[in-house]
Amino acid sequence: MPDNSSAMSQRGHAGDGLVEGLNPQAEPPPGVDTKAQAEAAIGDSPSSADTTGALIDLIETRYHAAHRRQLSEMIDLARQVEEVHRGDTAPPAGLTALLKHMAVVMEGHMQKEERVLFPIMRRYGQARLARPIAGLLADHDEHGALMRELETLTDGFAAPEHACDAWRALYAVGRELAEDLARHIQIENDLLFPRFVTPAE
Ligand SMILES: [Fe+2]
Ligand SMILES: [Fe+2]
Repeated sequence: MPDNSSAMSQRGHAGDGLVEGLNPQAEPPPGVDTKAQAEAAIGDSPSSADTTGALIDLIETRYHAAHRRQLSEMIDLARQVEEVHRGDTAPPAGLTALLKHMAVVMEGHMQKEERVLFPIMRRYGQARLARPIAGLLADHDEHGALMRELETLTDGFAAPEHACDAWRALYAVGRELAEDLARHIQIENDLLFPRFVTPAE
């Protein structure tokens, strides 16, 4: 059984004390209702009615859990394919290394959210978190860039004719990851985070 421990080894440390500008006690100035402003900014999307807790539950149970499974499966499959296929039938060079890098980067980010930001968002519904959220948005840009790199490397997850079942499965999970990551980032950027940033910030 392939070992993913190196890729996931930062799970216990990646989120430790790395969120700058965090002030959980911060309150909005009198008369400023950040939640109402955020809801207004979100518009009439059906999801705009979801509570912050419900959105975070969805993100953690649907998307974070899926990414951990997807990246772990992809690393396993990439190693299998590399072992089975040698020479000119091998998968793209650097694929396993890129997947392991993505797993570490995304794990660190998800831990910052799960261990630091999300608990504050659940507890202090009107906390002003513009600075740490700016850091998370930059992380999302990095995730998008890594995904584009992955799509380029795999020719848009199009398996070649000679690809074995494991190789095809690897790319199928990759397409799933790409779709889920895009939706996950959209939910955080457009629905959750605006609730904690006032327009003036
Ligand atoms: Fe997230
Ligand atoms: Fe995120």
